[in-house]
Amino acid sequence: MTSTSTATTPRAGRLDRRVVDWAVADVPDLAGRRAVVTGASAGLGRALAGHLARAGADVVLVARDESRGAVVRDALVAAGVRGRVTVERADLADLGSVERLAERLLTDRVDLDVLVHNAGTGAAARRTTAQGHEVLLATHVLGPHLLSGRLRGALEQGSSPRVVTVGSGLHRLVRTRLDLDDLEGERRYSPARAYVQTKTAGMVVARELDRRLQAAGSPVRSVVAHPGVARTALQSSGTTLAERAVARVLAATMGRDVEQSVLPLLHAATADDVVRDRLLGPGGPRDRTVVTSERHVGALADPAVGAAAWDAVEDAVAG
Ligand SMILES: NC(=O)c1ccc[n+]([C@@H]2O[C@H](COP(=O)([O-])OP(=O)(O)OC[C@H]3O[C@@H](n4cnc5c(N)ncnc54)[C@H](OP(=O)(O)O)[C@@H]3O)[C@@H](O)[C@H]2O)c1
Repeated sequence: MTSTSTATTPRAGRLDRRVVDWAVADVPDLAGRRAVVTGASAGLGRALAGHLARAGADVVLVARDESRGAVVRDALVAAGVRGRVTVERADLADLGSVERLAERLLTDRVDLDVLVHNAGTGAAARRTTAQGHEVLLATHVLGPHLLSGRLRGALEQGSSPRVVTVGSGLHRLVRTRLDLDDLEGERRYSPARAYVQTKTAGMVVARELDRRLQAAGSPVRSVVAHPGVARTALQSSGTTLAERAVARVLAATMGRDVEQSVLPLLHAATADDVVRDRLLGPGGPRDRTVVTSERHVGALADPAVGAAAWDAVEDAVAG
């Protein structure tokens, strides 16, 4: 069975949350397809890469630390996955590194079916990259935007092609208050705010990419999915004791294990009939996660914010 949206969950209210009739067993045979997963050296990216390779896809693990990527590759190969698994080193926060990654990905093969922007970094004190960008912005928005642009032609040669952006449910906190005049956090910066702002900006740009793909008649879809609260290393990030304590409480009370949290991402990456205009996430009791979809709200639903965010990000990437 493949997926379609069905019943509306009554408690979902204005978000119009729907359970998606889909399970891991519905992942199609992905033999012959090629997927690129960033941040595949740990957590959700590692789990997602494993599912894709088991289903037969050739998977490129993008890791900023090649040896950590190699550990994941070796474990998947030892487990006998069907697809070919390779590692490419790239730092998503470094635009030069992203450019070189795109060049290498286009060397052997001109088609690509799935690109997953999963690499992410937790709340941290303000630092800048080689190009002078704030690190969270570069990792969550600028690097992924550049990579999507460079690989768009390859995706257009793919089968049921899509770009999946791993967002965060926290975006609802900002709604339309995305601060496009200070994306770099030069005037106002706090680690937690930077995380929410940059995750939201990444999702807004992904939505705008989808509008542009549709307007151009492209076969590529840009889909946004989030894992809820997942028990990964990212949940122990935070710059202060208080932030780390909040993260620990969140993980203990609301956290799902990685195999449950990855389901919305796996659905987004593989379901032929994935919805492109709704946010995919987890739902249901923590021990029986289902995939849900809900209406986009706030900045994600606003084409004017999307167009302005796109222009701001293009300017930043052009430097
Ligand atoms: N965990 C949650 O509750 C939660 C909730 C909402 C959204 N998310 C999102 O889910 C995604 C995956 O996070 P996770 O929870 O699986 O965290 P994780 O276990 O910390 O994994 C993050 C991955 O991203 C990689 N990464 C970080 N910065 C990078 C960079 N500059 N270049 C290349 N790779 C980089 C890390 O590489 P290293 O192995 O080298 O560190 C790691 O592989 C992130 O986008 C995160 O924002 C997570």
